[in-house]
Amino acid sequence: MSDRVIIFDTTLRDGEQALSASLSFKEKLRIAKALESLGVDVMEVGFPVSSHGDFESVQMIAREIKNSTVCGLARSVQKDIDAAYEALSVCDNYRIHCFIATSDVHVKDKLHRDFDAIVEMAVNAVKYARNKAPDVEFSCEDAGRTPIDHLCRIVEATIDAGARTINIPDTVGYTLPFEFGGIIEQLFNRVPNIDKARISVHCHNDLGMATANSLSAVAKGARQIECTVNGIGERAGNCSMEEVVMAIKTRNRLLNLETGINCTEITRTSQLVSQLCNMPIAPNKAIVGANAFSHSSGIHQDGVLKNRDTYEIVTPESVGLKENTMNLTARSGRHIIAHRLEALGYSSDSYDLDNVYKRFKELADIKGQVFDYDLEALLFFSNLHEEPEQFSLEYLSVMSGAGDVIPTASIRMSSGGEHLTGADVGNGPVDAMYRTIYRLTGYDISLKKYEIKAKGQGMDALGQVSIIVEYKGRVFHGMGLATDIIQASALAMIHACNAIYRSELIEAKKSRISADAGAEE
Ligand code: KIV
Ligand code: ZN
Repeated sequence: MSDRVIIFDTTLRDGEQALSASLSFKEKLRIAKALESLGVDVMEVGFPVSSHGDFESVQMIAREIKNSTVCGLARSVQKDIDAAYEALSVCDNYRIHCFIATSDVHVKDKLHRDFDAIVEMAVNAVKYARNKAPDVEFSCEDAGRTPIDHLCRIVEATIDAGARTINIPDTVGYTLPFEFGGIIEQLFNRVPNIDKARISVHCHNDLGMATANSLSAVAKGARQIECTVNGIGERAGNCSMEEVVMAIKTRNRLLNLETGINCTEITRTSQLVSQLCNMPIAPNKAIVGANAFSHSSGIHQDGVLKNRDTYEIVTPESVGLKENTMNLTARSGRHIIAHRLEALGYSSDSYDLDNVYKRFKELADIKGQVFDYDLEALLFFSNLHEEPEQFSLEYLSVMSGAGDVIPTASIRMSSGGEHLTGADVGNGPVDAMYRTIYRLTGYDISLKKYEIKAKGQGMDALGQVSIIVEYKGRVFHGMGLATDIIQASALAMIHACNAIYRSELIEAKKSRISADAGAEE
């Protein structure tokens, strides 16, 4: 039987305290509910004494959450513990988490005390909290830089005082994995009552070591990991929940450990936290980044098609994603092109792979990424990238503002040489413009994703708009680049409309071919 590692999530405390704008009550509750569905054992949801708002939100979450222990942070002073108790005691399973700094620099320069006074404050706080709650955790802030003799002394004293969990934070993300594992090992070897408490770790990511340090600690006996969704938190953030959980799951045979996390909820929770916290996820972020399950190299794509184990140690399905993705680029090989065409319904005897592949490479060199609809177009048009676009923008005027202004767009487009002119209103300038374009092209489009980025810096930056739209159940991509972001948005939609137009031509051509084949039979 594997040993269970407790997952203590602090997205709503350490994570939230690092956001540029606080979350609303409703947003915090949505995240807390998602964490409950994810199966976190403990969720730390705030620092009740810090503000009236924090107190209220901790209490509200404590009322709603039934399947995870709800925890609140408190400095090692009575008024903090009182506030935490008052906020949390509305639920059955709650934990009071007291902390005090223990490293020399914090003790002397921040707290202006000596270490004896720190131990006394910690012991008094834990005893006081234990009178109010059966479940008390104590943290030695900056434990990673605390002299080991001091650390052993305060850990022993606070376990004696009644702490059930002792947390060893690497508050400034300073330690290296072998060093941090060594600290945990020494605690197990030197603290006589260590078996009376669970040892927890809380690693920050300043040197990018948070996940490695947490794993090094569990390898030495720690059985609680404090972490946050997407690794958000102070400065470079905390240990990422998704990384540490999937590492424990994926390397279970080596570690012989498990967590209670429902891993298929990971992607959903990560997306929710990213959106509500307005913290985008880096595309190459382990487990939850947009590229975490997408293969670009031709050699990798070929390997994955033969056996996914060649380049996938974690399956996308195991974290709640539907499937991996293969980026069709100039590095892609013939195997993936044949495979994609087969998935799109083209049998290998209906086209000449050498010819299609040659044209695919030419197009990929020009476009970068090639999408399914481009690939289909290759089958039907030999000179795709020279093909004139059906739609182009001739004139655009948008009116928008605050107050009673109704956002309105007027557009003139060319469609195969003809002029199309129209205007519409919307709930914003982009909406008004897109409604006008839908009407002028006659396409019943649904906008699925709109993203805007600055390309370059300062006043000269270009706005790059990328959109994903759906039309007749198929997905199309559009990109627009201009110094004016409204114009870039229009160009992105027109780009997508041109792709739709080409795919309509292909559909028509396909039906003609099958009608002719039927007539011949
Ligand atoms: O990083 C840290 O030391 C903390 C403690 C309050 C646990 O967040
Ligand atoms: Zn922290």
